[in-house]
Amino acid sequence: MSDNAQIDTDETLGDGTLQEPTPIEAQATLDRWVTRSAQIDRALETTPEKFRVLTGDRPTGNLHIGHYFGSLTNRVRIQNLGVDTMVLLADYQVITDRDGVGPIAERVYSIVSDYLAAGIDPTRSVIFTHSAIPALNQLLLPFLSLVTDSELRRNPTVKAELEDTGGRAMSGLMLTYPVHQAADILFCKANLVPVGKDQLPHIEITRVIARRFDERYGRAVATEPVFPMADALLNTNAAMILGTDGTKMSKSKGNVIELGMTADETAKALKKAVTDSDRHITYDPANRPAVANLLTLAGLCLDRDPADIAEEIGDGGAGMLKKIVTEALNERLREHRARRAEYAADPAYLHSVIAEGNEKANAIADATLSDVREAMKMVY
Ligand code: TRP
Repeated sequence: MSDNAQIDTDETLGDGTLQEPTPIEAQATLDRWVTRSAQIDRALETTPEKFRVLTGDRPTGNLHIGHYFGSLTNRVRIQNLGVDTMVLLADYQVITDRDGVGPIAERVYSIVSDYLAAGIDPTRSVIFTHSAIPALNQLLLPFLSLVTDSELRRNPTVKAELEDTGGRAMSGLMLTYPVHQAADILFCKANLVPVGKDQLPHIEITRVIARRFDERYGRAVATEPVFPMADALLNTNAAMILGTDGTKMSKSKGNVIELGMTADETAKALKKAVTDSDRHITYDPANRPAVANLLTLAGLCLDRDPADIAEEIGDGGAGMLKKIVTEALNERLREHRARRAEYAADPAYLHSVIAEGNEKANAIADATLSDVREAMKMVY
């Protein structure tokens, strides 16, 4: 990337010592990420060959409409720009905050069905599971030596996730999973990671690890650092879709609309959706979040301004709003659902997609680990 001035590495972004920032510093850092992310988004269009993108999901459940509008469509757009894209099923990350893996294989297959149905093309993107990539996981060893336990304890994402688990004791994996996530990114030398704001601390630690590895092991054999400085691609214009009760989507709250639901199940879920007592429909996200969420969803499906839809409904009330959202969403997902059902009915094909992806990911990981061994002078 170095010959493109516009996207030169910004050495000031997240390359510090992982100190806790003041709120003002945190806001300033976020502003810089947002600005940089917008620049990179433009560069993706003009110079897609300069990027390797790593993106992925933790397979803790089936994908829902929040994933669809928040990340899936964006991944397909990036792939279709000609960007080299790696799509990770982070199966080991499932056990950071729970005792078992659950029906992990079913979930992985279900998610891959949605990837393929959405347009992720396994001949252009590498779809893989990190548990099947030994060299990726081996990077964890040298990487763990580059961070301190207090840096990990300060990680805002680790803290937030710990709070979500209701005071449960922290496992070693939970504490170190940001380092594992850095291995997910660096094993393939990805320089761009599409994420939400909540994942920025992981990008920062990834940059710190890349820089410290370079400082500690230098350039014994190469003129370039072994690892690139990864950037975050913040999908700032993606609407945040809430659950049907107007709060954050979460399977445990039963407020999720999964991509794999039927049209009838979708209608039922939306019928139960929370609205409010004001019959006149307006688009007012601050004061009427649940109603605004349904309007946003309708807007996304119909490619229209939610405020215009609200105006059209007016005194038609929540009943009319729900009818419009239901029809729009079911229509928008109709083809996706037909395709995903076909894929889901063909586990042999899904298996071959993952097996081929894992083979490609293993080749990449082995090459990187070999660079790491050389840098560390562990070649015997
Ligand atoms: N933590 C991410 C999530 O919960 C999933 C993930 C694992 C990931 N490894 C990654 C995302 C590497 C980006 C890069 O959604």
